[in-house]
Amino acid sequence: MDLGLNGKKALVTGSTSGIGYAIAEEFISEGVEVVLNGRTQKNIDSAISKLENKYPNAKINGLVADFLKVDEVKNLIDSLGDIDILINNVGIYTSQNFEETTDEDWLKMFEVNIMSGVRLSRHFLPKMMQKNWGRIIFVSSECAMLVPEDLIAYSTTKSAMLGLSRGLAQLTKGTEVTVNTVLPGSTLSEGAKNFLKEAAVKEGKTEAEIADGFFKNVRTSSLIQRFISPKEIANTTVYLCSPLAAATNGASIKLDGGSVPGII
Ligand SMILES: NC(=O)c1ccc[n+]([C@@H]2O[C@H](COP(=O)([O-])OP(=O)(O)OC[C@H]3O[C@@H](n4cnc5c(N)ncnc54)[C@H](OP(=O)(O)O)[C@@H]3O)[C@@H](O)[C@H]2O)c1
Repeated sequence: MDLGLNGKKALVTGSTSGIGYAIAEEFISEGVEVVLNGRTQKNIDSAISKLENKYPNAKINGLVADFLKVDEVKNLIDSLGDIDILINNVGIYTSQNFEETTDEDWLKMFEVNIMSGVRLSRHFLPKMMQKNWGRIIFVSSECAMLVPEDLIAYSTTKSAMLGLSRGLAQLTKGTEVTVNTVLPGSTLSEGAKNFLKEAAVKEGKTEAEIADGFFKNVRTSSLIQRFISPKEIANTTVYLCSPLAAATNGASIKLDGGSVPGII
């Protein structure tokens, strides 16, 4: 499908695997020049070569930056140049008791999940406004609204993201720049696949049985009762970046398979 994105340039944070990689691939298939990001050159090189094998004419670069390290974020911004699209995808989470989550855990989660998007948007939003076109997407989570008890710190960062995204969208008033948030549900990224594999070995079950049990016992509110594929998240995310979605600004779009109850 031609979404009218050919020739644009996008940065996708945390994109050597998982949802970020799927978004990068979808952009590439639409003729977008993509800058990948991860914490090591090795992972970036391997992601680039996988994508180049599939799309030999694609324009793909990569920049190493650990979003826990402010100096690396500054280097990334300094070396990146101009972009049209910013996907704030990077995010970390740990399943933890609230009592055992230390200040350090909380601050780490805020540094990677929130300050990454703050720092990048502070630099790139004014530039997008100047040229009167740009797209910023924040990748939040169903957890922003479900708030699982073992993921309170993570969920808090993902709720904070909704305020950040909406506030930035309000700054774009009267321009062709949009800022939106997507809220994925449980998605079968590499991390989730490993979790299923390990749990299957531990419990002497198949991976399908573990996945089934997750929706029957944990994510009971999911209407689709299955994991979402990273490509399903990427499809809507990339559409929201296209000129076709110009009327969507300041929105929070649920891509959660219906897990968050409510009619909007
Ligand atoms: N998977 C889900 O079920 C789900 C559901 C809702 C929302 N989300 C959100 O979607 C986003 C992507 O999730 P995912 O499951 O695809 O994640 P993932 O598989 O854990 O993401 C891995 C990617 O993030 C990069 N990364 C991790 N820490 C980083 C850091 N400190 N600095 C830079 N890059 C870093 C990794 O790069 P290297 O390893 O190469 O450094 C890799 O490219 C996150 O914001 C997550 O909260 C996920």
